[in-house]
Amino acid sequence: MSKETAQLIIDGTTYTLPIVESTTGEKALDVRSLLRQTGYITLDSGYMNTGSCESQITYLDGSKGILRYRGYDIEDLAANCVFIEVAYLLLTGELPTAKELDRFKYDMTRYALIHEDMIHFFDHFPPNSSPMSILSTMVGTLHDFYPEMDKEEDPYGGLTTTTARLLSKLRTIAAFSYKKNIGHPLVYPRADLSYCANFLNMMFDRPNMPYKVEPINVIALNKLLILHADHEQNCSTSTVRLVGSAGVGLYPSISAGINALWGPLHGGANVAVIRMLEGIYRDGEDYDKYISKAKNPDDPYRLTGFGHRVYKTYDPRAKLIKEVCQAVLETLNVTDPLLNIAQELEYRISRDDYFVSRNLYPNVDFYSGIIYRAMGIPTNMFTVMFALGRLPGWIAHWQEMNSDKESSRIGRPRQVYKGITNRPFVKIEDRG
Ligand code: CMC
Repeated sequence: MSKETAQLIIDGTTYTLPIVESTTGEKALDVRSLLRQTGYITLDSGYMNTGSCESQITYLDGSKGILRYRGYDIEDLAANCVFIEVAYLLLTGELPTAKELDRFKYDMTRYALIHEDMIHFFDHFPPNSSPMSILSTMVGTLHDFYPEMDKEEDPYGGLTTTTARLLSKLRTIAAFSYKKNIGHPLVYPRADLSYCANFLNMMFDRPNMPYKVEPINVIALNKLLILHADHEQNCSTSTVRLVGSAGVGLYPSISAGINALWGPLHGGANVAVIRMLEGIYRDGEDYDKYISKAKNPDDPYRLTGFGHRVYKTYDPRAKLIKEVCQAVLETLNVTDPLLNIAQELEYRISRDDYFVSRNLYPNVDFYSGIIYRAMGIPTNMFTVMFALGRLPGWIAHWQEMNSDKESSRIGRPRQVYKGITNRPFVKIEDRG
């Protein structure tokens, strides 16, 4: 708590509000006693100014384009780590030693299978079901197949059997949902492959056409998952915390987070970007049509992949993803017309006063889909890829939320009621 306070004057009465200071110096008005002191609540639609918790997991400065997990710059983590190393960091607060990482890798292999009875569930989704609905359903089902243990042993730091299981099994569920979707036989996880290589192998290996895991795809996938691994109190993470605050376990909370991520304004934007770029391609690269539509205040249309609630400068993740995108396409010798369209669109936006004055830059979803396409991942799986990446962040926040009394208070916003105040009841026979 800072020594500073803020004064709030309502109808001539002065109330004192504490100021809370973050470790990086940002200050927040602590309004927790406001209602009790004054009878007033705060109104903040979309939670533009509301800090919902204190957190030690991720720091981001949207005006400087800084993103750090547990104090480490995202650039350093993406350049030097594999995804599960970063998952370990997010979950425990520390980077693993070589021994700890080996143990964690072993657990990713040990828990990779899913119960064979769960596999039958895949058969009963209608054809062309959304992989996101399958993912969230299957994660909810883990609750019954692998009950969470109340008092788990703590094998290493903040990690538990449930955590390791979920991290490993989500990858298997994701790959199986793709195989079922295309009607191909399932490919089981292998003990000799790393987390990312295993996922790619489960996705693309076929009995008649063995899959060769390209090293560049493994490198790119590790980076993409790391760059998506956490982003503090975004919509899906806040959902995980809010649902978890009702006292439900990890699996149902994560299942709810997956559903929140699905939306086109959030994780679903990576699908919407590709649809938009394909539309521009089909329209003979009529950029003006799309740009004018996005600028028209009477049209709800937006250029997907641009803008962010928090970043008012270039999203640091988008910068790194753009580099990965170029490296993957060059190494695999893939030509994708959508990359040229994306670059041209970004160029035009960067010179358009509407977008410049509103600080609208490419976000994390703008170039990621082009990388997934080059890897052979179909568009309807893009948001599933985002979910795989975001999982350690969700779990870390769920754990943090449960770690003390103050942050695990049930989430329950207030409202300003604008409906009819009171009216006499009219019996059905008198309603005309
Ligand atoms: N295209 C055109 N105009 C835009 C866009 C866009 N993509 N994004 C924001 N604006 C305009 C908006 O119309 C508003 O203009 P005005 O001030 O004239 O009313 C101004 O910029 C501020 O927008 P906002 O809606 O107040 O900003 P927000 O913080 O509520 O929304 C956003 C953030 C990400 C939802 C929004 O920028 C958007 O819809 N972007 C497209 C969808 C997208 O790419 N989402 C992925 C976000 S990053 C990954 C993730 O978080 O999951």
